[in-house]
Amino acid sequence: MRTHHCNEIRDFHIDQAVTLIGWVNSARDHGGVIFIDLRDREGLTQCVFHPDENPEVSALSHTLREEDVVQVTGRVSKRLEGSENAKIATGAIEIVATGLTIVNKADVLPFQLDKELSNEDLRMKYRYLDLRRPRMNKNIRQRSVITSAARRYLDDSGFYEIETPILSNPTPEGARDFLVPSRLNPGRFYALPQAPQQYKQLLMVAGMEKYFQIARCFRDEDLRADRQPEFTQIDIEASFVNQNDIIGLVEGLLGSMFKAGLGIDVPASFPRMTYADAMDIYGSDKPDTRFEMKITDLADVFATTEFKIFRGILDGGGVVRAINAKGFAIITTGQMNRLNEIAVQAGLPVKNLAFIKLENGEYKSPLWKIFTDSEKANVVDKLDLAEGDIVFFAAGSRDSVSTILGRVRSECAVMMELNNDSTKFNFLWVVDFPLLAHDEETGHWAAVHHPFTRPHPDDIAKLEAGDYANVRAVAYDVVLNGYELGGGSIRIHEKELQAQMFSVLGVGPEEQQIKFGHLLDAFRFGAPPHGGLALGLDRIAMLVAGEDSIREVIAFPKNNKGADLMAHSPCQIEHKLLREVYVQSTYKDPKLAAEKAAVQ
Ligand code: AMO
Repeated sequence: MRTHHCNEIRDFHIDQAVTLIGWVNSARDHGGVIFIDLRDREGLTQCVFHPDENPEVSALSHTLREEDVVQVTGRVSKRLEGSENAKIATGAIEIVATGLTIVNKADVLPFQLDKELSNEDLRMKYRYLDLRRPRMNKNIRQRSVITSAARRYLDDSGFYEIETPILSNPTPEGARDFLVPSRLNPGRFYALPQAPQQYKQLLMVAGMEKYFQIARCFRDEDLRADRQPEFTQIDIEASFVNQNDIIGLVEGLLGSMFKAGLGIDVPASFPRMTYADAMDIYGSDKPDTRFEMKITDLADVFATTEFKIFRGILDGGGVVRAINAKGFAIITTGQMNRLNEIAVQAGLPVKNLAFIKLENGEYKSPLWKIFTDSEKANVVDKLDLAEGDIVFFAAGSRDSVSTILGRVRSECAVMMELNNDSTKFNFLWVVDFPLLAHDEETGHWAAVHHPFTRPHPDDIAKLEAGDYANVRAVAYDVVLNGYELGGGSIRIHEKELQAQMFSVLGVGPEEQQIKFGHLLDAFRFGAPPHGGLALGLDRIAMLVAGEDSIREVIAFPKNNKGADLMAHSPCQIEHKLLREVYVQSTYKDPKLAAEKAAVQ
């Protein structure tokens, strides 16, 4: 239907006859001469309809409206001097139209495509129009480019691309499962995979050695800007590997994706930090290292303090720590209230964060008069407290202080706009995660990563001794600018160790057989040592695109309530269909309730 794309024609095409097809991006009438910018996926070309060139075509061109689909035939011509448009690649030429076919007329659009629209619901309702915008087009294209780069890299590295079932069983990745009733097996359900974890391990037992999959995953959890109920992982598993092998592979993989997507070279290897250090220094297991604001321990400053609260906490084995938000003494009351709110949500036992700020040479703080002169001097020195700075304190258990100051640090960074440089890419590995965490609600120990993760070889004795809190895992996360891009681990491949792990997690022998019998069985028949990782493709695409929500890089995302406003999903299902899959439903909709009553 065309000889060229709308971004293709240059001055060396002048006098050639061409045919273009696309959408009318804009139409202007200059004294009876119609100018349109014709748009396709690739770009824009100006087409001109002169009355004296072809009166019939010119008359038709007067009827053109934005977003009509048209096919234009004409001659490439140099634009009049002074009317070139340096902003577009085809800005030196125009097409003098000799033919015009209106392929399909467009109604008036619900919103303009050339303006940013803050109403996200409207964008989602007409997502197919929203995706016509250049920004969205670029995001979707970039996602395609980085996905292809990942496939190429993994293919070149000897990985097989293997699909695993979507209709499967519940998978313990920490979220709720989406369930699908089985018509052929009354009362039974499939669960959509939260990740292909067990299948990829079984592929290692099957001797595939190197597996990857661009895998759709489904998790019924609270949604956020970087979480969708269905998302995509680049899922990887390999046999006969150690942690360094997987880390090296993933560094190369991310390097190839960023090169393809942005043309930039990321470092050949990324810094590594233990989980314990990440929590102590940044208060987060996915720290944004584009800015400092590190947590400083003040145990030595207050070693002999008589300030009762600090004394009690330090004597009880707790910590006193602080961060310096440099230059942020100008904080507003509203911002201060917000920080207090966040700190309380994070576990601060009092209503207000303790702070010291230095303004016009004066220390302002509820604590200042309580500190001794040497404590004051040491605080100033240790935190590098200078004019215009504000320091926030937290005291309590090591974990709670990390959580509180970590959140305060992140929020200060947002308020101070330290976290919005989307051209800086600070990759980081966080390693040596704890294997287990105590779940206060259930009273059980839970796997921090998942139950298939290998305990650190140096900590097996602690696992045997029941010192669960101090057992590390051979687990690693790759982090970029405060986002967890991916996580993985070296796995347990021995039946006995896996069964022991399940027992620690409170899964008894009978339940182990029902839920994981296939895996435990498989480990009896010569399972190779193996490990892997999964990258969140949506998050990578988001950061490559410089966006702050993964919804901007997913063609048809769900909103925060898990709904697709365009397709009206999830929808109500007629009672008859539910009966076929043996599901009972209580309808709120009176019409459906009446139908149900009629069928019964
Ligand atoms: P994990 O649960 O850490 O590991 O998931 C891996 C990566 O997937 C992305 N991710 C998400 N992205 C968007 N929306 C979500 N709801 C969502 N949940 C997770 C994140 C995350 O880092 N089976 C293991 C991997 C392994 O051990 O090999 C797993 O799924 O970027």
